[in-house]
Amino acid sequence: MMALIAALVLTRTAAYTSPRAPVVAGNWKMNPGTAEEALALAEALDAVEGREVVVFPPSCYLEAVARKTNKNVALGAQDACVLAESGAFTGAVSLPMLKMPRVDYVLCGHSERRSLFSDDDDAIRAKVRGALDAGFAAMLCIGETQQEYELGITDDICALQLAKALEGVTAAEMANVVVAYEPVWAIGTGLVCPATVAQRVHASMRQRLRATYDSSVADACRILYGGSASPLVIDGIMRQPDIDGVLVGGAALDAATFNQVSNFHAGWWRTRSFLKKVLHR
Ligand code: PGA
Repeated sequence: MMALIAALVLTRTAAYTSPRAPVVAGNWKMNPGTAEEALALAEALDAVEGREVVVFPPSCYLEAVARKTNKNVALGAQDACVLAESGAFTGAVSLPMLKMPRVDYVLCGHSERRSLFSDDDDAIRAKVRGALDAGFAAMLCIGETQQEYELGITDDICALQLAKALEGVTAAEMANVVVAYEPVWAIGTGLVCPATVAQRVHASMRQRLRATYDSSVADACRILYGGSASPLVIDGIMRQPDIDGVLVGGAALDAATFNQVSNFHAGWWRTRSFLKKVLHR
């Protein structure tokens, strides 16, 4: 009994206490393979009170997904072309074209865009700028490679990516920026960055925002973790004081799994539901 009370107290103190509304975002990447599957996935997503659930489907599915998902689930585009509003840019989709009902976010700087599509710091800065100017919120991804992690230069790499992408972004505009720390070595590998390590990086990025802007910007900015996030690790991640949500890839492609992530229990709520189960046995 004493152990149970101690667990209750300890878990309660570690509960999700941040004043920042948590974000659970699903990046579908180039999935699923058919519109039917995309709609089935969209339809089965939970909206969770007090949390912002966002999904980033391929842009060709955006309109249909908006019609099928719960109206409290927000949508975002995985990328946007900021070279022009329209014109001879084969294969590209511009920001005005993404101005569809319920599309609130544009993902900028995802590591796959950086590595596979050569989005460099200038391109990413232009996308953040373009997204904000067009009235979207920017979800900015930053993160170090495995080699950089092993060299112990994670904070420097992330700080540099953050500074470059946010160049020219004002304190007021930061209300429309969400940062996602995604260690490249953790993306799609099943290797999750230990929650305490991610917490340290998040705290360091928040400190950078404090130095660049001020405490109110730093304290209000949501910083998400991304990289093999799943129901198995979400509760531990969300107990960290500077982690305000997750950007989920693989685990976002199965509605039940993604819903488990969205319904995370960080702290005493988990204990409460556990107690309920025990007492009703
Ligand atoms: P993952 O992807 O969850 O499959 O690692 C995360 C991401 O790419 O944003």
